[in-house]
Formats: sequence, C-alpha cells, structure tokens
Amino acid sequence: MKLSDRLNGIGEYYFSQKLKEIQEMNQAGDNVINLGIGSPDLPPHPDVIKTLQDESAKPNVHGYQGYKGVDILRNAFASWYNKWYGVSLNPVTEILPLMGSKEGIMHICMTYLNQGDEVLIPNPGYPTYSSAVQLAGGTCITYDLTEENNWFVDFENLETRDLSRVKLMWANYPQMPTGQLPDTQQFEALVAFGKKHDILICHDNPYSFILNKNPISILAVEGAKETAIELNSLSKSHNMAGWRMGVMVGAKERIEEVLRFKSNMDSGMFLPLQLAAAKALSLEQDWLEQVNAVYANRKQKAYALLDLLNCTYAKEQAGLFVWAKIPAGYQSGFKLSDEILYNAKVFITPGGIFGQAGDGFIRVSLCSPEEKFDLSIERIQKFLTAK
Ligand SMILES: Cc1ncc(COP(=O)(O)O)c(C=O)c1O
Repeated sequence: MKLSDRLNGIGEYYFSQKLKEIQEMNQAGDNVINLGIGSPDLPPHPDVIKTLQDESAKPNVHGYQGYKGVDILRNAFASWYNKWYGVSLNPVTEILPLMGSKEGIMHICMTYLNQGDEVLIPNPGYPTYSSAVQLAGGTCITYDLTEENNWFVDFENLETRDLSRVKLMWANYPQMPTGQLPDTQQFEALVAFGKKHDILICHDNPYSFILNKNPISILAVEGAKETAIELNSLSKSHNMAGWRMGVMVGAKERIEEVLRFKSNMDSGMFLPLQLAAAKALSLEQDWLEQVNAVYANRKQKAYALLDLLNCTYAKEQAGLFVWAKIPAGYQSGFKLSDEILYNAKVFITPGGIFGQAGDGFIRVSLCSPEEKFDLSIERIQKFLTAK
C-alpha cells in the first residue's frame, strides 16, 4: 500500500521501536532493566481504584458519553486548578477532558494548522510536538533550550527571527527532558510574546506535581487566556498513565474550536473512568507527598548510577527523570546508551531523541523500584571494571 504523504518523515515512535529491541533481547534471556520510560510503576490511590470498581459494576454506565466529559469531572478539574494553581476556570466552558494530554497535542495541531503554518518547538523537547505538527501539515521551527540559559526560552534570539508565519508555540515547564523547574517570569514572558506576535502559546504541564514544591500554571498569568492554552494530565501526577486521562484548559473559544475537531475523533470516555479521575483530583497533599518521597529516594540511586558513568547533572530538577550530561570522550548519548544497553543490559534514554540539542545528554527515569537501581548499578560497575 502506498502511504499518505503526511507520513513522510514520520517514523515509528522511538520508544515503540526500542521496546521491540529490548523485548527481543529479553526473549534471548537478557533480562534488561528499563530505566528509559516515564510510566509510573506505583498504583493510583486505593479510593480511585475503588471508585472505578464500584462504578463499573453498575448496569447503566456503559453507554457512550458526551464529548465534553461529565459535569462531575469538569467540576473536579476546576476545583483542582483553583486549589493547586490559583486559577479560576469556568467548568462548563473552559475545561475539556482528554484521553491523556498526548491526544490533545494532536487535536490542537489539527484544529489550527494549515499547510505551511509554522510552529515553534522546543529543542530538546517531547517528540510528539514535532510529529503532531508535521502530521497536521505544519512546519516545525525549533528553538534551542540551553543549559546556560537554564533551559528557558531565549526570547532575544527568537525576536531576531521571522515569526510572521508562526501560528503556535509549544512550551513545557517543568520541562521534559531537562527537568527545568517552572518560573512565573518565564510564563509572563511567554504570554507577552504570544500577545505581541499573535501566537497561540500551548503550554504542556503534566509534571507539575512530581518533585516540584511549587506547581504553577501559565494560566495564572494575568490575561493569559487571551493567548495561551494549557494541557494537563493525571498520567504522572496520579499514577494513571494507562488510564488515559488528561485535560485542556483555556478560553471558551479555544475549547469550542478544539472540540469541533475532537468530537469527530472519539465518542466520549467511559463514565466510571471519569468518576474515578474526579476522585483522584480531590486527593489531598499527603498522598502526593508519599509518592514524591518514593521518587526522592530513587533519585539518590539515580545520582549514584550517573556518578558511576561520570555524568554531571543539576540537582534542582522536577519531573520523573534525571537529565545528565555525558562525560567527555563519548560522541553522543546514543553511544553511551547503547554501550550500557548491550553490555550491562540496562536501558537509559539517549537525550538525542528529544532533539539534536539533547545529543550530549542521557535521561534516567525514576519509574523503577530502588532494587532495580541497585541491580543496574551492580551491572554497570561490573561492565566498567571489565572494560
Ligand atoms: C512533556 C510530555 N507531555 C505529554 C505527555 C503525554 O502524557 P499523557 O499520558 O497525558 O498523554 C508526556 C508523556 O511522556 C510528556 O512527557
């Protein structure tokens, strides 16, 4: 079959390919430890699971649902935004529940982009931004994030570029993969930039509750709704990645526009899942603190592993990963990642998959128990001694 032109330049997602390779290695008896992917291994809160169980046992909850989610869920998102971010949202008009934020990235691109429209994409950044832009017919214009600039947007540099065809800009703090913490001034600058150039700022905020004491939303900036929308997700914050539950928040007009596309793509979300998600959104700080305590301990182990590899890293990082610079002597993170995978049977993500600016880095996920880190350290130590 001849494929559609829109797939030109779009390969299989890196992790999908790599996981196949790891699976083959495991079938050959390698027992690879995967410190690559950011899928929380801890369970959701027991009350969340109980809500799903109780609700799905009812006879009348199995039909199609509305396209905008049920009131209970939208109200829960509104209260959550108010409580944690100090952002006031109208639950009827300014909230659109999604099946994870990843689908929102595609919906937003499909809603706004025409052939040739340009989109600013962070480098390094989440690879889905660029594939969604390309699939929607847009053109990616990358903006480099550098360590020297604290992985923040270099607006001075952006202002020197021709922005006349730029329609959207993707930004994400806490930043993935660099772990850079969010910053109110950076959000204010993004909003001002969006307004000045008439660019829709799409802020992706799935990591704000992981190892971050001060969750902030771009919508907390005065007047942000005029130029910005935000995606959020329960995948990381509530250990619900497989449940596929996220949200888009923003001005009524933006929600209606994206819904026009989205309502042609799916037929609503399973009601018990929406009710369980509402339960998750009502959880108190103590649960989040327990989860974060587990990640904080694992982070110490990740540091030990990175020290062994002579990598360097900032300790002030939020999110589910540690982003680290590879030692001199390695041409790229790909080389180091493959060396460790094939020799120590430990998979660490090469930073280059997030854009060429990530080439000299690797990313260690905190989604494995401490014992796996201990075993990884043992295996790497053994390989390095034998080398
Ligand atoms: C920056 C970023 N945005 C969005 C997502 C997608 O999350 P979700 O599970 O909500 O689709 C991820 C997942 O890894 C991510 O790292």
